[in-house]
Amino acid sequence: MAGVRALVRALVEDLDAARAHDPAARSRLEVALAYPGVHALWAHRAAHRLWRNPALRLPARLLSQLARATTGIEIHPGARLGRRLFIDHGMGVVIGETTVVGDDVMLYHGVTLGGRSLNRGKRHPTLGDRVTVGAGAKVLGPVWVGDDAQIGANAVVVKDVPAGAVAVGIPARIRVPNAPVTERSRTEDPSELIEYII
Ligand SMILES: CC(C)(COP(=O)(O)OP(=O)(O)OC[C@H]1O[C@@H](n2cnc3c(N)ncnc32)[C@H](O)[C@@H]1OP(=O)(O)O)[C@@H](O)C(=O)NCCC(=O)NCCS
Repeated sequence: MAGVRALVRALVEDLDAARAHDPAARSRLEVALAYPGVHALWAHRAAHRLWRNPALRLPARLLSQLARATTGIEIHPGARLGRRLFIDHGMGVVIGETTVVGDDVMLYHGVTLGGRSLNRGKRHPTLGDRVTVGAGAKVLGPVWVGDDAQIGANAVVVKDVPAGAVAVGIPARIRVPNAPVTERSRTEDPSELIEYII
C-alpha cells in the first residue's frame, strides 16, 4: 500500500513539474494525456526498473523503443533520472545509457545527452539539480553540469559546466561562471544524486 501511495505521489509530482515549467499546461489531466515528455518519463521509470534486473534487460530495451516510437524521445533504460524531470515538446531527445540527471531538470526538444567514445564505462553526462538544457543542445561525454546551470539552445558542451553558469555556443563557452567546478563535484558519486521513485 505504501508502494502504491509513493507511486501515485511520484506520478502527480511529474504532472505538477510539467505544469510548473510550461505556462501552456492548464490541468493535470491535460498534461497526463497530451505531454509526450511525461509519457516518455513514465515509460522510462518502468523500463529502468526492468533494467535493474539483468534477466529483464531485453524487455527494458523493447519498452524504451516503444516509448521512442510513440513520443520521439529515446531514453536508454540504464539512464538514471531524478525527480520532477520535465522534457518539453520532446521530439528528438536522446539520453544515453550512463547518463545521470538530478532533480528538477528541464530539457527541451532535440537535446542529446550523449557519448563521445565507444568505451563501455561512464561515457555520458551527469547533470546536477535544476539544470536547464535548451532546444537542440548537445552535451557530450562524461562531463559534469553543475546545479542550476543553463545550457543555451543549440550549444555543444564537451567540458564541465560550473554550477550556476550559462553555457552557449559551439563549442560551448561559459558566460556566467559564478561558481567554480569543485573537486567535490567532480568526484561525487553521481548515484547519490538520485532518489529512485519506483
Ligand atoms: C542560454 C540562455 C539560457 C541564456 O539566457 P539568459 O540568462 O537570459 O541570457 P541572455 O539572453 O542575457 O544572453 C546572454 C548572452 O548569451 C547569448 N546567448 C543567449 N542564448 C544563446 C544561445 N542559445 N546561443 C548563443 N548565444 C546565446 C546572448 O546573445 C548574450 O550575449 P551577449 O552577452 O554577447 O549579449 C537562453 O538564451 C537559452 O538559450 N535558453 C534556452 C531556451 C529554449 O531552448 N527554448 C525553447 C523553447 S521551445
